[in-house]
Parts: sequence; structure tokens; C-alpha cells
Amino acid sequence: MKLIYEKSKSGRRASSLPRYDLPKAEVPEDLRRTAAPRLPEISEPDLVRHFTALADRNFGVDTGFYPLGSCTMKHNPRVNERVVNLPGFRDLHPYQEEEASQGALEIMWRLQEILAEVCGLHAVSLQPAAGSQGELTGLMLMRAYFADRGEADERRVVITADTAHGTNPASVAMAGFELQKVETDDRGNLDLDDLRAKVDGRTAGLMLTNPSTLGLFDEHIAEVSEIFHDAGALLYYDGANLNAVCGISRPGDMGFDIVHINLHKTFSQPHGGGGPGGGPIAVRDILEPFLPVPAVVRDGDAFRLDHDRPKSIGKVRGFCGPFGVFVRSYAYIRAYGPGLREMSEAAVLNANYLLARLKDVYDLPFDRLCMHEFVLSASNLKREHGITALDVAKRLMDHGFHPPTIYFPLIVPEALMIEPTETEAKETLDAFIEAMRAIAAEAAADPATIKSAPHKRPVRRLDEVKAAKRAVVKFGFDEHPDLAPVKAEAGGEAIEAAKGA
Ligand SMILES: Cc1ncc(COP(=O)(O)O)c(C=O)c1O
Repeated sequence: MKLIYEKSKSGRRASSLPRYDLPKAEVPEDLRRTAAPRLPEISEPDLVRHFTALADRNFGVDTGFYPLGSCTMKHNPRVNERVVNLPGFRDLHPYQEEEASQGALEIMWRLQEILAEVCGLHAVSLQPAAGSQGELTGLMLMRAYFADRGEADERRVVITADTAHGTNPASVAMAGFELQKVETDDRGNLDLDDLRAKVDGRTAGLMLTNPSTLGLFDEHIAEVSEIFHDAGALLYYDGANLNAVCGISRPGDMGFDIVHINLHKTFSQPHGGGGPGGGPIAVRDILEPFLPVPAVVRDGDAFRLDHDRPKSIGKVRGFCGPFGVFVRSYAYIRAYGPGLREMSEAAVLNANYLLARLKDVYDLPFDRLCMHEFVLSASNLKREHGITALDVAKRLMDHGFHPPTIYFPLIVPEALMIEPTETEAKETLDAFIEAMRAIAAEAAADPATIKSAPHKRPVRRLDEVKAAKRAVVKFGFDEHPDLAPVKAEAGGEAIEAAKGA
């Protein structure tokens, strides 16, 4: 497909603006343009076709099943977009005075109350803008808590599972803690013997996803919590997988002291490319004084922002956080009402249905009932036919499905991590099962076709690392300074390749 600059023809316009009659802006001489910007020149039909063609190449949860494990791609109800676009929400300015923002403050306060209840904890801050930022905020709270107790120098270590999402160790390092890993036992739980040997007076806390990234609920969570609390340490719950347990079991009751909630996963948001999202944190009462400011509080019948929190870690995001995300999540939760557990029950049922119908054709490293997701392995196909998890993922695209997460968690070789969510119908799940089974059969009959897949997508197998690490998102005008190293490195070919990517 040609780039829009390549379609550009001098003098063509998609629309023309009336000439303005405002006085010229006072722009300092050295900041003024000396030449007109080089924008693509194109007619409106060609412009519309160009971007429609690009959109058609995309695959999203609105175009098909998207079972990306741990990334929870569920349907985003359109009514939530209507609600968030009501003028009272949409046009609200963050500097608007509190008296004129009572409705918005009330929604935030109500959402905080609901999240505290879902987590079984006492206080919530909505500020962090993603799960990963919630992680960092939670660990900063941990640090502030130990500093307040005069234990900052001793409590240096945070323990994570060997199945942890990559953001967990990264957040531990960013928050200034030392990282220690604990192993997984034969049933997919934390290895208690390994844990006991590692927890001591230097331990600040544990960071754990439960259910884990294997889609398994830790069978010893009460003992795990006891080990940490007996050692004076805290427990952090990575709530990325909260979709499995809402209204059924609560992190606070399991013993966790700090939780982040990926609003954009569990409570539905359009998301992609790491956002836009929301990563509120919920905490036990002992940690409430350290939460970010301002806190949204209720005073009788009114709501206000409380900045007077002397022990607070400060702000972690502009204003109060991503407000539109709060409105959508609040609407999603209220649509379920007191039956929120139905959401999690359906997510778990859908995952177990897929698991039951796929485990005879793919390896299953931990043969247990799963929660909202499960991890298969393509090791059997690799051993017998040379077909890897990557090959299965690429071939699934020809069947019209987005691939599941692959090669994660790291402890499962040839991992295929599948999360259907609660919003998919049985027919969709059945079609996915048929595709996965057809690929397993094809691995034996015609592995070459799988190896060269996808056959029906606009591009085939790309150098994904290069596309991510050396993304060229500007048009390659010959003299473009940003593109010079790329060109030099690949003898000029890189730009063509990057365009395709
Ligand atoms: C288990 C787990 N933890 C943390 C995160 C980070 O969340 P976010 O993408 O909102 O930063 C993810 C994201 O996929 C995850 O799957």
C-alpha cells in the first residue's frame, strides 16, 4: 500500500478553510517558519479511502475474537461512550471549582467505594493511569510505609513469582527495591519451601497476581499471606486478573494490603498500545495516609478534593487521573449492579470450556481447572512436527482470529495463553476451538502451510523486533535527519522495509 505522501499531488485539497481575519499572531522571529509545512496534498475521496484501507488492515476486538491472555480484550458497550460524551462530563475542565464539579466528584467517590468493596480493602486512589503505574505507586506506598516506621534501610527486597508479568520486576527496580524471584511448584502455585527460605527481615513485600498468569488460583494463598505478615512484610496484588474473581473472592480477604486494578481490562475500556487506561490502587487502612493527593472525599452531602495529607507520596498523575475512564468503568459496573460476580463467573466458564475442548490436542502444563484464562503449550507440535507456538499464532490469523499471547509466562515452553473473556458467545468459542484443532491436525498433515502462514493477511512474517525498536513513523524525505542512521545501516533499504512494517 502506498503511503499518503506518495499519493500526494501538488495543489489537491480535501477541504479549504476560509481565510481568517484575525490579527497576525506575535510569534518571535526565530520561531517563525521560513517555509510552508510539507503536508500531503490529496482529495477528500482519496483521503477517506486511504485511512479506511489502513483501518481495514487492523484487527481489533470489534472485528473479531481477540483472546490475548492477561490483556483482557472484552467488548466495550457503546452506551458507555454515550455516557462519557454527555456534555457535563465531556466539557468539564479540570480547573473547574469544586462546587461546579459535584457530579464528577461524586462519580469518582462512588467508583472508589465500589473498588474498595470489590477488593475488600479500605481506601482507593484513582490517580494512576495504567496497571504498571499502579504497580509503581503501590510500591512507593510500601516504601513510604516502611520509612514511616523507621525500617526503610532494612526492608529492601520485594519478591515476585517466576510467572510474573514483566512490569512487576520493572516496577520493583523503579521503586528502588531489590528483586528476588520465587519459583512455581508442580501444581502452578508459589513454591512454599522456596518462599519460606527467602522471606526474612529484609523483605518489604510480595508482588503477586492471583489468579496467576497461568490462570491458576494459588491454593495456598492464606499460608503465603501468613508467611509475609509474620515477617512484618506487606502483600501487593497485581489486579490484572481481577476479572476472574469479582464478587467471588477479594484480595483483601486473601491477605493483600495493596491492589492495583486495571480498569481498562476488568471494567472495559477501549485500549491499545498500553492505554488509555486507568490503574487505581486500593489499600488497607494502615497505608491510607500515604495515598496520592488530592483524595476525593465526601463531606456530608458534598464532595471535595482533600490535599491535606502530610504523609502522602504526592501526585502520580495530573489532576485526579483519567476521568473518562472512570465514567466508562462506573457505567460498566452499574450495568451489572449487584450481579457483578456474573461477569467473573462467565469469564471463568468460557475459559474452562475452551480448555476442556483443547487439552487433548495441545500440551497442558498444569492440568487443573483454570480461572479466566489458561496456558497451553505447543511443545507436542514442536517435538512431533516442528511447529512452534509462533507458527500456531500466525496460522490462527488465516482463520480470522487474533492470536493468543505467546511465549508468556516464561516458565512454559511454547506457551499459548488464552483468555476468552465473558463477552464471547458459545458460537465464537466453538469456531476458535475448531480453528485450534484444525491447526493441530494440519501440523501433522501439512506443516509447510503453517510455517509460511499467514496467507490471508496484508503482510506475512515481519521482523517484529525491528518494527518495534526501529519504528519509522515519519515520511522518509531524502534529507530527513531522523532517518539518516537507519538508511546508512541498511544501505538505503531500511526505509522501504519500515514502510511495509
Ligand atoms: C499480569 C499483568 N500485570 C500488569 C500488567 C500491566 O498493566 P498495564 O498494561 O495496564 O500497564 C499487565 C498488562 O498486560 C498484566 O497482564
